[in-house]
Amino acid sequence: MHTDLDNFIEEGKAIIEDTMTNELRNLEIPEQLKQSMLYSIEAGGKRLRPILMMASCGAYSSDSSKVLSTAVALEMIHTYSLIHDDLPAMDNDNLRRGKPTNHKAFDEATAILAGDALLTYSFELIVQDPKLTDRQKVFLTSSLTKAGGPKGMVAGQVLDMEAETKKVTLKELETIHTLKTGELVKFAVKAGAFIGNASSEQLAYLEEYAHYLGLIFQVQDDILDITGDPEKIGKPVGSDEENDKNTYPRLLGLDGAIEKKLHYVNKAKEALKNAGADSSYLMLLTDHFSNREY
Ligand code: IPE
Ligand code: IPE
Ligand code: MG
Ligand code: MG
Ligand code: MG
Repeated sequence: MHTDLDNFIEEGKAIIEDTMTNELRNLEIPEQLKQSMLYSIEAGGKRLRPILMMASCGAYSSDSSKVLSTAVALEMIHTYSLIHDDLPAMDNDNLRRGKPTNHKAFDEATAILAGDALLTYSFELIVQDPKLTDRQKVFLTSSLTKAGGPKGMVAGQVLDMEAETKKVTLKELETIHTLKTGELVKFAVKAGAFIGNASSEQLAYLEEYAHYLGLIFQVQDDILDITGDPEKIGKPVGSDEENDKNTYPRLLGLDGAIEKKLHYVNKAKEALKNAGADSSYLMLLTDHFSNREY
């Protein structure tokens, strides 16, 4: 059965993918770099962060077209983080989005540079967007820097690697997940609502919502690393076990991890009600994040 949410996701995905591909194809840059950037961008991916951004804007405004450049920027930063995450020095994975990882398809140096290029180009996209005011650009670029940088995703990746050689508490694991995955998810929700002119009170509740949503997303990622179908998830299963990763299932057992996830789902939905956005796509996306099979 095709639901309303499926349509929303499919339409959002198509717009994001068209825009990203066009942006990159039209760049006048070294060919190998362009091919490597395009390779990971076109490899697929669920595009959940841009879709979240559209849903969040749509919860407060009837026009979500203004989020497009920022949504594309966010997906580019996310893609760069995956290219680097898969490198031999990090998770050393060979498969991503159902295809050989970027450093396998090209080489390590090209993969590193394609990541660097996606990261920096993303900011150019926001700054160049004629649909955004200067005030909006300052807010968006500074929050994206914070979410993706040394106080956000990068910090999470470092803590995640450091934790490979030791056992962490549930609280420490929550911090790692909040940073490595949660910060970009939070950015998606907050930036979308900001562009949609949500009030500061609504934004505060959405921050809480997004905190739980990020955790839901990463707990499910950990669960899928055990129970997932590699064909569907497009990356190998068992990578966490192999790298001696601290994960929710490892700390709590599989059932415990699922129980924890459902607790987060309830918390997220409660915050969403307080934000006055419980009849938006954000509500449906919460269960979608929690139940996803890939
Ligand atoms: C994978 O993210 C990495 C995590 C932060 C857990 P996604 O599961 O969103 O990956 P794609 O974009 O769909 O490939
Ligand atoms: C990656 O987390 C998170 C970022 C890239 C920021 P994981 O290492 O768990 O992601 P997968 O499982 O390789 O997609
Ligand atoms: Mg990793
Ligand atoms: Mg990884
Ligand atoms: Mg994982």
